[in-house]
Amino acid sequence: MRKSRLRVTGVSAAALAATGTLLTYSLSAPPAAAETAAPGDNPYAGSQLYVNPDWSAAATQGGGAAIADTPTAVWLDSIGAITSGSDGSNNMGLREHMDEALAQGADAIQIVTYNLPGRDCAALASRGELGPTEIDRYKTEFIDAIDTIIDDPAYESLKVINIVEIDSLPNLITNVGGRETATPECDVMKANGNYVKGVGYNLGTLGDNGNVYNYIDIGHHGWIGWDDNFQATADLLYEAANAEGASPEDVTGFAANTANYGATVEPYFSIDDRAADGPIREGHSSWVDWNRYVDEQSFAQAFVTQAATSAGFPSGMGAIIDTSRNGWGGADRPSGPGDISGPGEDYVNDSRTDRRIHLGNWCNQSGAGLGERPTASPATSIHAYAWIKPPGESDGASEEIPDDDKGFDRMCDPTYEGNARNQYNMSGALDGAPTSGHWFQAQFEELIANANPSVS
Ligand code: BGC
Repeated sequence: MRKSRLRVTGVSAAALAATGTLLTYSLSAPPAAAETAAPGDNPYAGSQLYVNPDWSAAATQGGGAAIADTPTAVWLDSIGAITSGSDGSNNMGLREHMDEALAQGADAIQIVTYNLPGRDCAALASRGELGPTEIDRYKTEFIDAIDTIIDDPAYESLKVINIVEIDSLPNLITNVGGRETATPECDVMKANGNYVKGVGYNLGTLGDNGNVYNYIDIGHHGWIGWDDNFQATADLLYEAANAEGASPEDVTGFAANTANYGATVEPYFSIDDRAADGPIREGHSSWVDWNRYVDEQSFAQAFVTQAATSAGFPSGMGAIIDTSRNGWGGADRPSGPGDISGPGEDYVNDSRTDRRIHLGNWCNQSGAGLGERPTASPATSIHAYAWIKPPGESDGASEEIPDDDKGFDRMCDPTYEGNARNQYNMSGALDGAPTSGHWFQAQFEELIANANPSVS
């Protein structure tokens, strides 16, 4: 469902001339209005994206002047963030961002809506302010408040790209039920339906505005890329896209790798490779481990063209990939494939550019670098490479911080030996990290040093 953007504008001379009839009014869209979002539209194509001055200032101060004019997303991670900025380095509210976007002459602004009841049910680092049952507050105090701002006619020329509730629906696939990876909190959110209802209300309410483009989060290849998770995720997304007033037409596409570290494209090996001991996919590489994908782009393309359409979404949708921290340049980057005539385990480990200890590691990863700069339409079915997680903002504190508003997740502690979700590997996190969302200078410096493409 969409609100009509048609306005009565008075007598149109062209219409009069064309029909020869006396018309008392004609209907036409206001001249500067952003085009109405429709399935298949790519809001990034030809668009100048908004640069968040809060992040730019932090990046410049942190020694990143060369990349400080890169567009990054505005995170709405609490009710307070709508008026006074998100956790960490952001001070501006949504209205100020929208005004500033107009002042920049931007065509589009990227926002992340991230405040579901019982948020972050499988981790602690981004636990939110709303309890598991507070769906009504989510609707009225969060989504309706954002909608009121976006609905202001002053902003109708601005496309609003909405990345919807990262990690939430994927958590309901992998971290529930009898699985070893289950958490009691995710079981609660699955049983009470409030993630599905919240995402549906978000999509339907904001998507009613003709200038809003919704992308639903699909985790990343190292999470949803296994057969057990892939179609089930698309089916759950489709359920949410039909809940609480939403319809699949409210959805422009899907967001992969948000705030994660998966390589966009692994250049030196592919899923079909066969090493000396057999196919790398089929038990001959603990890194690949029966996953269908080795990188984000192949995963996202398959999600759009196969899983989403099988679930019932229209064909011709798109995906975006968060490339803010998945460059993996620097000294440890391999310069070519490993030895395919040796064991698959060594071949993959010597070929992969993603240098994480395990694909399930997600917090402040050591060795990471900035990835591709934002680019529209870089590949089939990919609407954009986009910087959704602002580089330099922490994923979580590396040790317990007294009176922290969020929790301490040991996946952010470099001494932690892991859990079922990273198959009991070391966390790979950097030491000295502040609470999620707060500025982490040492990580920012490493991201610049290991950038690929490099920062000149
Ligand atoms: C945090 C948010 C923050 C976002 C962007 C998340 O991990 O929980 O508070 O706004 O990252 O840095």
